[in-house]
Amino acid sequence: MQLIFATNNAHKVAEIQQAIPAGFEVLSLRQAGIHVDIPEPHDTLEANASEKSGVILAMTGTNCFSEDTGLEVEALNGAPGVRSARYAGDQASFADNVQLLLRNMAGQQDRNARFRTVISLRFNGEEHLFEGICPGHITDAARGDGGFGYDPVFVPAGDTRSFAEMTLAEKNQYSHRAKAVAKLFDFLARQKR
Ligand code: IMP
Repeated sequence: MQLIFATNNAHKVAEIQQAIPAGFEVLSLRQAGIHVDIPEPHDTLEANASEKSGVILAMTGTNCFSEDTGLEVEALNGAPGVRSARYAGDQASFADNVQLLLRNMAGQQDRNARFRTVISLRFNGEEHLFEGICPGHITDAARGDGGFGYDPVFVPAGDTRSFAEMTLAEKNQYSHRAKAVAKLFDFLARQKR
């Protein structure tokens, strides 16, 4: 079964490629020859994920999925959340966002946080949503140089290393995205029977 993954983020594509079971083929937008920058105008992960998969479905008429992810920090009332990519401004780099987060968390005792991913699948004309959550905490300083985004400042519950200090396979044992993707492929495997 072939599906388009509606993202331009090469890190997300690499993570998901590692988790695809036999019998499925996932094409990134680039691999599918689609060059479009899909906006994320909404104030929930669900609505943004839905918008992205809807745009690609309208363009291609093909089964596809998208995902939207946010880092939800307890002491910041769930921020940056749906604004994770633009936390430090519309043109913010990963490093800008990480620096702002560490500044806003300076001196904060409660460092609990979680990543939440929502996948929107468009399959045979219907939409299905899948959620993956990874609890953990925010470090005092950036650690490691793997991964992307907030990986250097997030330690998943059950480990002492930041995501940026792990290999992709190690991150996938904990990650929000891997959990949502597992639900996606469970669902798809059941449709094939
Ligand atoms: P997006 O809107 O789903 O592309 O993601 C929002 C932002 O969250 C990204 O720009 C990253 O900074 C961050 N992000 C998403 N997924 C991860 C992850 O797995 N690790 C670290 N940061 C992430």
